[in-house]
Amino acid sequence: MIDSMLARDLLKAQNDLIISARLAHWNVRGPNFYESHLLFGRIYDTASEKVDTLVEVLRGLGYNPTFQEFGGPGGELPSYSCMPLIEMLTGYVTSYMATLLRMRDAVKDKSMAAGLVNLIEQLCEDGTTLLYLLSAAQGL
Ligand SMILES: [Fe+2]
Repeated sequence: MIDSMLARDLLKAQNDLIISARLAHWNVRGPNFYESHLLFGRIYDTASEKVDTLVEVLRGLGYNPTFQEFGGPGGELPSYSCMPLIEMLTGYVTSYMATLLRMRDAVKDKSMAAGLVNLIEQLCEDGTTLLYLLSAAQGL
């Protein structure tokens, strides 16, 4: 069995990143509009690509998803300018990756959940790429 609280945290962190990237993609404006629009679209696409696989793997380990995980972070975007949105998304990617690593460390019997561990590693690779793109967009 999977730690339900951790599975909920993971789906929530993933979904918060996805919906925030989507809103940033739609709402960004200003001098760097087009490159930011494309960057936020790529983040959305990358983060959402394996949602279904993650939920199915978690279901296979006994977790039942609810609406709570998919509500999004709520509130308002911090700004419509690219830099605050990049900083916001960096925070969401970082939280998501921390939750992925907590889940990986919590899997006691790696042989029973090899698919989950493998998927977490793929999601961490995706997250590392997103952090690179976000840091490069900040000139770092
Ligand atoms: Fe679009």
